[in-house]
Amino acid sequence: MKKYCRLLFLLTASFSCFSYAENSYVETPTLHGAGDNKAGYETKAYTTNSKALTTRIGKEADLMALVEHPPLGLPTVPIPANNPITVEKIALGRKLFYDRRLSLNNTFSCAMCHVPEQGFSHNELATAVGIEGRSGRRNSPTLFNIAYANILFHDGREDTLEQQIWGPLLAHNEMGNPSPGFVMRKIRALDDYNGLFENVFNKPVSMRTLGMALATYQRSLNSANSPFDQWYYSKQKGAMSLSAIKGFQLFRGKANCIACHSIGKNSALFTDHQLHNTGHGFSVSFNIRPKKQRLLVAPGHYIDIDSDLFDSVSEKKPNDVGLYEITQDPADRWKYKTPTLRNIALTAPYMHDGAFKTLEEVIQFYNNGGIPNDGLDPLIKPLGLTTIETNHLLNFLNSLTGSNVDELIADGFAAPVGDTLN
Ligand code: HEC
Ligand code: HEC
Repeated sequence: MKKYCRLLFLLTASFSCFSYAENSYVETPTLHGAGDNKAGYETKAYTTNSKALTTRIGKEADLMALVEHPPLGLPTVPIPANNPITVEKIALGRKLFYDRRLSLNNTFSCAMCHVPEQGFSHNELATAVGIEGRSGRRNSPTLFNIAYANILFHDGREDTLEQQIWGPLLAHNEMGNPSPGFVMRKIRALDDYNGLFENVFNKPVSMRTLGMALATYQRSLNSANSPFDQWYYSKQKGAMSLSAIKGFQLFRGKANCIACHSIGKNSALFTDHQLHNTGHGFSVSFNIRPKKQRLLVAPGHYIDIDSDLFDSVSEKKPNDVGLYEITQDPADRWKYKTPTLRNIALTAPYMHDGAFKTLEEVIQFYNNGGIPNDGLDPLIKPLGLTTIETNHLLNFLNSLTGSNVDELIADGFAAPVGDTLN
């Protein structure tokens, strides 16, 4: 039985150690490694969409091909001149990405917030939770097609994948490492990394080489050739439903989503690489909220309670003013990065704080004209979409899922997870 519990602990997503069928629980709860005693967690009926490591069927994909020949609808992958792609570098980055030993207490990998089978985002948490159950204030964004992003994080504070990694590696509520030196010492001491950095870079692990390897793996997560791409870029008539086609016409016409979620003549990233104020951040800061609010009581489990009661039972939401935090310019308050809409059906919940559970809610938000405030982007205004039109728009958004998603998930499943329990 002990073994069984150990296997349970090897599930990928955060909190998934209590995500099995209720009747399978037998052993007295014990301390699962570092952290608080998880007594009682095991009796919850919570189920997760993440797969247990024991049930995952992995299959390595040709990631290099996705970089050299990205799927239909994507432009050429931008590769920095000082970090060329090689097969070995992708493999090293992939090993690091799934390796839980990169966190302070060996429990948390990048992939546990950017979960492959959850759109390389996290469907079960509105805002991320890191080591020791420490809460963050923002939603884990998808890493599909992240190669094309030239501003990173919801507030755009980073611009290269090579540097971005030090955010999560060092954040106390993500992977919790105390310093870059600590991370490097740890990797140097791991036998299975022996010689790997030297092979790829002719240099040992350093802040630079670690960033270069992780960035390189992430640049291979390219996913497109969606029904939309097949219909729009390769003119396959039946690839998209009539309703989705009408949705696209609204997307670039009456609803004018395309003004920010841009598409090009030969390829589309569905982002203008800018930051905008849609009013959502403003409404959170000023507590403009509906009569009922949704309270997260366990991953994936919500209850609706009266807004007036909300503050007494929930921790106050941390303040978040978006781009203003970086520029200190009042005109930048509540500006957030325009996210890509590729694979959007797979990456709920939505917005920088995961406040909207469904795409219907997001469309309704835009249909109402966002939330008025001084800095509201002039492109956001009431749209007057009928119910039928919102359905068309929804069907269009649902046709942006890439054809190789399963391939990338299976590739993630084939990666080692840096298990310390064996
Ligand atoms: C505890 C959860 C968590 C872990 C672990 C984590 N991330 Fe993230 N990641 C997030 C959140 C939340 C954001 C958005 C943060 C923000 O905007 O301030 C993010 C943002 C990013 C972005 C920017 C995406 C974009 O669209 O701008 C990249 C790239 C990224 N993470 C890669 C990684 C890598 C690589 C690792 C491992 C070294 C990692 N993450 C570990 C939660 C996590
Ligand atoms: C003024 C620019 C702008 C326009 C116009 C716009 N968006 Fe957005 N969109 C954004 C920004 C900025 C965000 C991120 C907001 C946040 O994180 O708080 C966003 C977020 C989203 C998201 C959530 C993405 C995610 O991963 O969380 C969806 C879905 C979306 N928009 C769809 C649409 C649709 C559909 C329309 C047209 C009805 C539209 N957008 C019009 C800028 C825009």
